[in-house]
Amino acid sequence: MPPLPRLNQSPRDAAFVQDPYPFYERARAAGPLFDWEEYGFPCAAGYREVSLLLRDRRFGREPLTGLAQEGPAHLRDFRAVDTLSMLDREPPAHTRLRGLVLRAFTSRRIAGLEPEIGGIAADLLERLATAEQADLIRDFAEPLPVIVISRLLGVPDAMAPQLLAWSHAMVSMYQARRDRTIEEAANTAAREFSAWLRALIDTRRHAPADDLLTHLIVAESGNEHLSTEEMIATCILLLNAGHEATVHAIGNGVRTLLQVVPEPAAVLGPGQIAGTCEEILRHDPPLHLFTRIAREDVALFGHQFRRGETVGCLLAAANRDPAVFPEPDRFLPRRRNAGAHLSFGAGIHFCLGAPLARLELRVAIPALFARFPKLALAAPPRFADRFHFRGVEALPSDLTRI
Ligand code: HEM
Repeated sequence: MPPLPRLNQSPRDAAFVQDPYPFYERARAAGPLFDWEEYGFPCAAGYREVSLLLRDRRFGREPLTGLAQEGPAHLRDFRAVDTLSMLDREPPAHTRLRGLVLRAFTSRRIAGLEPEIGGIAADLLERLATAEQADLIRDFAEPLPVIVISRLLGVPDAMAPQLLAWSHAMVSMYQARRDRTIEEAANTAAREFSAWLRALIDTRRHAPADDLLTHLIVAESGNEHLSTEEMIATCILLLNAGHEATVHAIGNGVRTLLQVVPEPAAVLGPGQIAGTCEEILRHDPPLHLFTRIAREDVALFGHQFRRGETVGCLLAAANRDPAVFPEPDRFLPRRRNAGAHLSFGAGIHFCLGAPLARLELRVAIPALFARFPKLALAAPPRFADRFHFRGVEALPSDLTRI
């Protein structure tokens, strides 16, 4: 087979960080797959290709070498958590872990959180009542999801800053500029986070409460169960995945509404909010690139994948494919098929927290604009140099501009 078209683009290039979408357009035009030189693996940028790859069971997330306990000593504690996370497992281990978590993470429980999320949003907004300006990332988008997931699990609100610190240190491992300092910080965070959760799990065993942690412990006592180590890995996954992406989904949504929608309140009413949130997720999602590993030799999209070869799936590029979303660069809150976006992935690893993330967006964004109807940007926001989480560094806003 002829070699794939090769494109180079540093994920840390200043113009790319601010706007990666022109590159994605070039990538889609190159063909079903292109070789991304800086990453050193083939990538898909079209909707059809990304969607098929994520669902194709010949590709998986788990490394073929197995999730070896061996590896560099300075990453031992990080690996101990990572290797038990459902995100990096394939069936049958993935099916078992996901099934047990879903038993505790029911859609009824999630839907029942609506008043609580509204209360958390109202409290955060009330703290800004006398302010003229705010950074809506620091003051709203960041604390909201971390408090929501903490309360769901049964972790005291006061732990939120510590959870953020551990979580940021751990997810830094997925960035393009990972180095020894980042690895050591991630390992320390994993060790401290695990020790703290071990003690909390022990407390709940003796004093059950009506929280997700207790439900996970109960799920442990059936025929199938989560071991303590699996429970720790699952709680860390839920806590980290439960806010890192949601922060920037809210932040990117608020930015877009303030920058390109003339009258945001008109698209946030009860009849429109669900569609507007899907368009927010389609138009500028927080997570752009996920990878899969070929589990066998596969000939696909004009490329002969060798067993063990990595392929990149550009979710955010697929969301701008004009074959599926006409005028893809425009933010159209009434777009009929916005919900077909791939921002939550597809296939067996489809985001387990999608119903919660959607609820948070649908409650938080209208609450913000209702509380501050004159909300306006105080300065143009800049995206952070952090391709693994697309989001702005800050959202400096005037709350009461006349
Ligand atoms: C807007 C916010 C969110 C976005 C854009 C998002 C996106 C994603 C994506 C793309 C995946 C699949 C990764 C892959 O296929 O390789 C995923 C998986 C996952 N997400 Fe989310 N997520 C969000 C919020 C949440 C929340 C709030 C939670 C938890 C409470 C959560 C928990 C998870 C878990 C546990 C998985 C792994 C599922 C599995 O491996 O079966 N996510 N998420």
